[in-house]
Order: sequence, then C-alpha cells, then structure tokens
Amino acid sequence: VISADFLIDNADLVATCSGAAPKRGPAQRDIALLHRASVAALQGRIVFVGPADALRSEVALEPHAVRIDARGCTVVPGLVDAHSHLVFAGDRRDELQRRLSGTSYAEIAAGGGGILRTVAATRAASDEELLAGARARLDQMAAHGTTTCEAKSGYGLTLDAELRQLRVIDALDHTHDVDLVPTFLGAHEIPPEYQARPDDYVALVINEMVPRVSAEGLAEWCDVFCDEGAFTPQESVAILTAGSRAGLKPRIHADEIARSGGCEVAAKVGARSADHLIHADENGANALAAAGVCAVLLPAAAFYLKAGRFAPARMLIERGVPVALGTDLNPGAGLSPSMPFAITLACFAMKMTLEEALVAATINAAWSLDRADTVGSLEAGKMMDAVIIDGHLTDLLRVGSPSIRSVIKRGKLVGGEW
Ligand code: NIG
Ligand code: FE
Repeated sequence: VISADFLIDNADLVATCSGAAPKRGPAQRDIALLHRASVAALQGRIVFVGPADALRSEVALEPHAVRIDARGCTVVPGLVDAHSHLVFAGDRRDELQRRLSGTSYAEIAAGGGGILRTVAATRAASDEELLAGARARLDQMAAHGTTTCEAKSGYGLTLDAELRQLRVIDALDHTHDVDLVPTFLGAHEIPPEYQARPDDYVALVINEMVPRVSAEGLAEWCDVFCDEGAFTPQESVAILTAGSRAGLKPRIHADEIARSGGCEVAAKVGARSADHLIHADENGANALAAAGVCAVLLPAAAFYLKAGRFAPARMLIERGVPVALGTDLNPGAGLSPSMPFAITLACFAMKMTLEEALVAATINAAWSLDRADTVGSLEAGKMMDAVIIDGHLTDLLRVGSPSIRSVIKRGKLVGGEW
C-alpha cells in the first residue's frame, strides 16, 4: 500500500498526457484519457494515477491528507507556458490602440515604439518595480492554470541590465510557487547606442554577456530574435553557438515577422525549439522535423499583432514536428496571460484539435523546456501539478468565463479553490 497526503478523487475524466515525449504526428492527439479516475500524491510528488476503485486498495491516505472530490470535473496536467517575456516595465497600451486603427507592429517599432520603448522603461525601473510587476503577471498566469513558465530577459540589452532581469527571474522563481525556466535573450534587438554598429553589439553578446550569464548560472537557455529587422541567420548561428559552448541550450524566435531563415538556424545549431513560425513554410518544417526541433506556437501574439495569419500548425504536425504552445506574454502584443486562450486560438485559428492543443500546452511544452521528466503529465514520480476543470475539457475553451476550479502546484493550491 502506497501512502499519500493529497488526493484528487473520482474525477469524471483525467487527461494524463502520459507517454513518450515529445508527442508528434498522430501521437500529438494522445492525451491518455482515464474515466472515473483519481490522482494521489505524497509531498508534492504523484504516487498514483488510475481508476478511482483501484485507489481504495492501493493507496492509504495519511490522517491530515487533503482530499478533493472531483466528481463532475476534468483533471489535466498543470499547464506549461513555453514562451514568455515576463519581466519588463512600462506601458505600451497606446501602441495597441494604434494597431487597432491600422498601424503595423513594424511601423510602430520603426517610429521608436516596440521593444526599444520597453528597454528604456526597463532600464529606468527599480529592481523592486521589476519584481512586483513580474510577480503580479505570474499570479495571473497561475490563476489561468500555468504551473511552469519560461521567462526571458531581453529588455535590458546591456550586460548589467540583462543580468538584472535574469536576477529578477531567479528571485521570483525562489519566492513564487510557479516554477520559472530562465532564458537569456540579449539578442532581442540592437540597442539604440549600437544602431550604427550592430556587429559590435553581437560581439558584446557573444564575448561578454554569454560568458557572464553562464558563469553566474542565471539562465538555462539562450534565445535570439532571428527575423527581418532583428538579427540575421548568420548572427543568430554565431550567438546560439557561443551560447551552446557556454552551456546555454539554444532556442529561437523564428519566422514571426517574415520568412527569415530561423528554421534552418534552429536545425543547424540543434535548438530545442523554434518559436512563433507564423511565416514558416514546408522547407522550414522539414528542417525542424529532421533535426527534432519542437515548434512553440504563440497564436495569441499573431492575434494581437493582427498578423493576418497564424502559424501553419496542421502542416507542422503532418510533417512530424512536435508542437507546443505558449502565451508570449509581453508588453507589445502579448496581452493575455492565459494558456486556455492560447489553447482556444490553437483550436479555432490554427485548426488543431483540442487533444492536440492540450498535449501542446502540457507534455510537449514541458519537453520544449527540458522539463518532461518532472512536469507536463500526470504520472507517478512527477510533480503534483494539475488543473481541475469544472465540467468537460471543452469548458476550457469558454474564454472569459472561467471554468478552472483549482490550480495545483506540488500539491499546493496556487489558483482557484479546493
Ligand atoms: O515574441 N518577437 C520579439 N519579441 C516579442 C515581442 C516583444 C515586444 O513587442 O516587446 C515577441 O513577440
Ligand atoms: Fe517572444
């Protein structure tokens, strides 16, 4: 008999999303569903997932165990947000207004808005302001079911300002229940002081930032914004290769604004993920599939950018690229902290099935962050991270009408109620 101090009992449905990761092709639909099932945990780790009847004979509940009656509910793994720009200061809601009257993201950026405006505000903010803003956003993400979240630097663009953003991520990770996965994105944009000599900025990222970030253990990943108006494929290869050598694993912003060679860069450097992919074509998809790169799709960004199109999720899945999802939370076009909103757009704008989108938001997102051994599915040995939905899986798609009853991280309530 296994002992447990936490139990979600008698759920109508449990979508475990268990099995080999990442899930690609037809397996992307495999949510490994159990009917009338229970999930038990001890000290934040899952010890049992299976039929509610089997639980009675196999699991002994400790005297002060938490027991949640989940009749009428659906249980899914805690959601994993594979791409966010969580730490920033300032306000760009006026840019959103301008986009609504027809100005494009590129036009706004060219006129002094966009990323560089957030860089100025972030540099000027105090550590406390940065931390408080990020914490408030992370609370909202947790309320919408996120229990693990990737978080990037990229609004500092000097050695010290990038290190500071990463330290804020680290401080938040240590004081918030949601687990953060830190990414160094010094190559988010050429800062104003280097506009006339971009090569020098690339050299600064490679020769000074990457070594310090690595030496201080402040990031697990290195990312580059490889796109028209940002970094070229050549620069991206150089930066990501330098990152890899220093122990920072590669991931990349690719084909968001234009078809820009980011998929080929991802394949070449062995990136774990290529993100956005709004303009990715068959050749790009083939390169990702052949190299085993995961596509992290961010449909909320395409939506709020008014990009006029979404990433070709069906084509990517058909070509064998595992698909994951993220919010792309950021001050420009990343307005929604909600993974259920990303899931909804995946279904209704990118033609994914609900099962494919759920796998994308859980086990595949976990794999894209190299966390598939500890989170992303409901399996014995993994963290007790789960979302309890009042009703059916499809109730997750009722945007604006919250159907999430509880959000659980390591057996602790982080959103909703018991
Ligand atoms: O992922 N593409 C680059 N970075 C962000 C946007 C950041 C911003 O506008 O501040 C993105 O969409
Ligand atoms: Fe991004």
